[in-house]
Amino acid sequence: MEQEYEIMSAYTVIFDHLVHLGPGDSTTTRNLVERLSSDLPLKPRVADFGCGVGASALVLAQSLPKAHVLALDSHAPFIARLESTANTHRLGERISALVGDMMEPPPLEGVTGEFDLVWSETSIYNIGRTNAFTCWRPLLKPGGWLVFSDIVWQCKPTARSDKASAFWAKEYPDITTADAVVDELINAGFNPLDPVLSGRESWSNYYEPLRERLRLLVKHKDRPQALIDVMAELEREIEVFDFSGNDVALFFFLARWDSIPGSLK
Ligand SMILES: C[S@@+](CC[C@H](N)C(=O)[O-])C[C@H]1O[C@@H](n2cnc3c(N)ncnc32)[C@H](O)[C@@H]1O
Repeated sequence: MEQEYEIMSAYTVIFDHLVHLGPGDSTTTRNLVERLSSDLPLKPRVADFGCGVGASALVLAQSLPKAHVLALDSHAPFIARLESTANTHRLGERISALVGDMMEPPPLEGVTGEFDLVWSETSIYNIGRTNAFTCWRPLLKPGGWLVFSDIVWQCKPTARSDKASAFWAKEYPDITTADAVVDELINAGFNPLDPVLSGRESWSNYYEPLRERLRLLVKHKDRPQALIDVMAELEREIEVFDFSGNDVALFFFLARWDSIPGSLK
């Protein structure tokens, strides 16, 4: 437990002042929200699971001016930062930033579930897609939307570098192709749209500030072991990306929870 605490403290130190805690791009987020907005009620109830410090929660609240957003993350220091940023942007009233587990999300405004939109950017890997679909589907209103981004293989197994295969098999054993994720959604009873490829800037938005931060931190003497270990892991991830970044891609998956009898699998 103490070790876990130290590792999470290391993440707090490393991600201090970083906006994206995983690959992501505000323009893509905004475009996708706008694409869905005509299918949402005027005052949608929105959840952002694994919200980090709020990169997507802020865009959701800004792009849907009457929405109420439940922004949930298990790491309290990230939620504290999001609360402060939301207040700075005068969005504190519409973003409920809470510490919690996305496997068991708390009610929003006293009502359990009943979201019009469940959003999650590069966080689904933490609990696995199967668990996420099982836990999140009952939270959606009929006709509600599930949107998440996920890292997927972009090339066939024979074309993948050994380095990337070994890295992703260890770090994300659930990684698959975009087509396979779409099939999983259909099997879970969702009606997915065609997945949307997020541009390469999604990766640089994450890796460039992170690279810079690691460069600064490495100069610090007397770093705790947990910080040294987490930094080494992230450096390895960046190295694999520099070497074989085109083997993987970031896709957004948009799927409607359709309650029409007979349309369920
Ligand atoms: C790669 S980061 C992405 C954060 C944010 N969505 C972004 O794009 O900047 C994954 C996030 O998931 C959170 N997380 C991991 N497991 C979780 C859980 N079971 N419930 C809620 N949040 C969790 C982590 O604390 C972290 O902030």
